[in-house]
Amino acid sequence: MSGGASDLFGALPEPPLPDGMRLLRGYADSADLAPLLAAIAEAAPFRFMTTRGGARLAAAMTNCGDCGWVTDRRGYRYESRDPETAQPWPPMPVPMRSLAVAAAGEAGYPGYDPDTCLINRYAIGAGMGLHQDSDEAEFTSPVVSVSLGLPATFLVGGETRSTKPKPLAVVNGDVVVFGGLARLLFHGIRPVKVGHDARFGPFRYNLTFRRARA
Ligand code: SIN
Ligand code: FE2
Repeated sequence: MSGGASDLFGALPEPPLPDGMRLLRGYADSADLAPLLAAIAEAAPFRFMTTRGGARLAAAMTNCGDCGWVTDRRGYRYESRDPETAQPWPPMPVPMRSLAVAAAGEAGYPGYDPDTCLINRYAIGAGMGLHQDSDEAEFTSPVVSVSLGLPATFLVGGETRSTKPKPLAVVNGDVVVFGGLARLLFHGIRPVKVGHDARFGPFRYNLTFRRARA
């Protein structure tokens, strides 16, 4: 395979990934995705959500699709409407959905039917602590995670929080698919380092496609 980090640094060996997880280097075209993201953010602006305990998440978030992931004093859940605007979340653009379906197929998960995409925006210094994606009604569908903008270190943990996570460098256009035995692995993002992306400026974006409702 070519593209992504391996071209920049001359065929760096890729670290072994857990069963069920695949990394598709440079699979997503950020030029195609950028205007779609901008239109979603226009209708459903990025916002900082809080946990049940009142802590503000470091990444700003929005969603598109039939439902969207939210958190506030009532905890983590999916909602059909954006609590900020009281409107339904913007629909998932067809090219975004097609990218996720194709990536899942490429990774060995045919027939993917995501109903939501959580969009995370990380400013420099923002990261995401180790967590499982476990607010969905079923775990038979994979998570498809698209990295855009500034590079980051994706932390690949184990089945429990106590497993020491392994670092995986992800750059603009990389897609990580985790399903099957990897679906409920702990994962996170190290604080994003200072940088400037030609298209996205001082930000990293992540699109996380999921099947949230059965
Ligand atoms: C997430 O786990 O929701 C986001 C992961 C990432 O930003 O790559
Ligand atoms: Fe996650």
